[in-house]
Amino acid sequence: MIKQEVQDALNEQINAELYSSYLYLSMSACFESKGFSGVANWMRIQTDEERMHAMKFYDFVNSRGGKVTLKAIDAPPAEWDTPLAAFEGVYTHERKVTELINGLLGVAKEHDDHATESFLKWFVDEQVQEERTADEIVQQLKLMADFKPGLIMLDRELGQRAPAPVVPAVA
Ligand code: FEO
Repeated sequence: MIKQEVQDALNEQINAELYSSYLYLSMSACFESKGFSGVANWMRIQTDEERMHAMKFYDFVNSRGGKVTLKAIDAPPAEWDTPLAAFEGVYTHERKVTELINGLLGVAKEHDDHATESFLKWFVDEQVQEERTADEIVQQLKLMADFKPGLIMLDRELGQRAPAPVVPAVA
């Protein structure tokens, strides 16, 4: 049976992952309206990945005999002037998520919850990738600055991102 403090922290993370999903959906909507269909596609796929993250936590809490409690999801911003501004936002947000995962790991360790520690390992690794991908796109966007053909090419490239294979929620 999962301890209350660990369960509460996991429930908070479900909310944080759903907020991430909502944030990226808002970015997708923003760039759809600006004609950057590739950026919109990338963000939309990211939205689905974040929901998958939330569901991994959801299934894990249930698998430990805990209780999932859902809370209100904050409204995300609705406007980003440029793809660079949005991807800088993604990078900053993912760094925050990494801190949240590290905090969760701390709670699990504090309560000698080895199962939760083991479960969180996937997220520790995932955050390395999430930060790296966002930072790479930020760097590419900075390099091309106002060079429009480059921006159009990168938008096309981002439009080719395909959904990730479905990962079992609880391994
Ligand atoms: Fe669920 Fe992008 O971290």
